[in-house]
Amino acid sequence: MSSVRAVLDAAIARLAGAGIESPEFDAAELLAHVLGTTRSRLALVEEVDPASSVVFEELVTRRAGREPLQHLTGAAAFRHVELAVGPGVFVPRPETELLAGWAIERAEQVAGRDPVVVDLCTGSGAIALSIATEVPAADVHAVELEADAVAWAQRNLAGSGIDLRQGDMADAFRDLDGTVDVVVCNPPYIPHEAWESVAAEARDHDPSAALYSGGEDGLDAMRVVEAVAARLLRPGGWLGAEHADAQGESAPSVFVATGRWADVRDHRDLAGRPRYLTARLVG
Ligand SMILES: C[S@@+](CC[C@H](N)C(=O)[O-])C[C@H]1O[C@@H](n2cnc3c(N)ncnc32)[C@H](O)[C@@H]1O
Repeated sequence: MSSVRAVLDAAIARLAGAGIESPEFDAAELLAHVLGTTRSRLALVEEVDPASSVVFEELVTRRAGREPLQHLTGAAAFRHVELAVGPGVFVPRPETELLAGWAIERAEQVAGRDPVVVDLCTGSGAIALSIATEVPAADVHAVELEADAVAWAQRNLAGSGIDLRQGDMADAFRDLDGTVDVVVCNPPYIPHEAWESVAAEARDHDPSAALYSGGEDGLDAMRVVEAVAARLLRPGGWLGAEHADAQGESAPSVFVATGRWADVRDHRDLAGRPRYLTARLVG
């Protein structure tokens, strides 16, 4: 048997040496996962048995090799929900929680009827599930193109009542045209030529369809989002969409240029970087 402290200290040193940004957090999450407990309850455990030590060592080695932490634990926390994730689906990011929060507030402000919300590019289903959980009255619809990601979303959204469909967002939900209160989307937005700047965890493990958008500016998917949202929303309905930090002006411009949006505004994330835009369809 080894002490939890000694096992953790050795793992933290290895992860730090491999350049992992949050070695203490990752080591504790992995050990808690192996021991079937939570990070906060690790303090109640004193020793690690030999079999668990072996499993933990294997996971630390994989993390040091830049496999995403969430692929190793099989779960990603997002607002008040937990999503099953792994190869084939984009790992939801903390910064997207702000966009989901904005959509939740907008849905809550719909008066006199149950709000209708559409999540384009749903991936694991993180945004859609958060909205359905936090706004139980909402009628939530979600679409995803890639079959592997759809399989994860099906697992995460089972029993939620969310209408999940597989397909291209460009043609999605023709039956909802002109009836939607809030459209939300975290589209692929990295220009292809910027792939070298993407962290190894994302570049090697997130599906490329989740990362890269066509066009030199990485905004081809955003142009589709603009057209689809204009088709789906009621007059006066709201759109919120995430973008890269370098797109704080160019992404809102996609909406301003069409002349069919009012109140086009960009929002920063908790690190102060431009992160998502919101706009209201002219009524
Ligand atoms: C950046 S990920 C976002 C996933 C999830 N909404 C989140 O925030 O964690 C973008 C997702 O859009 C999907 N996607 C890309 N192009 C699409 C399209 N034309 N129609 C529907 N989904 C698409 C990708 O497969 C990927 O799952």
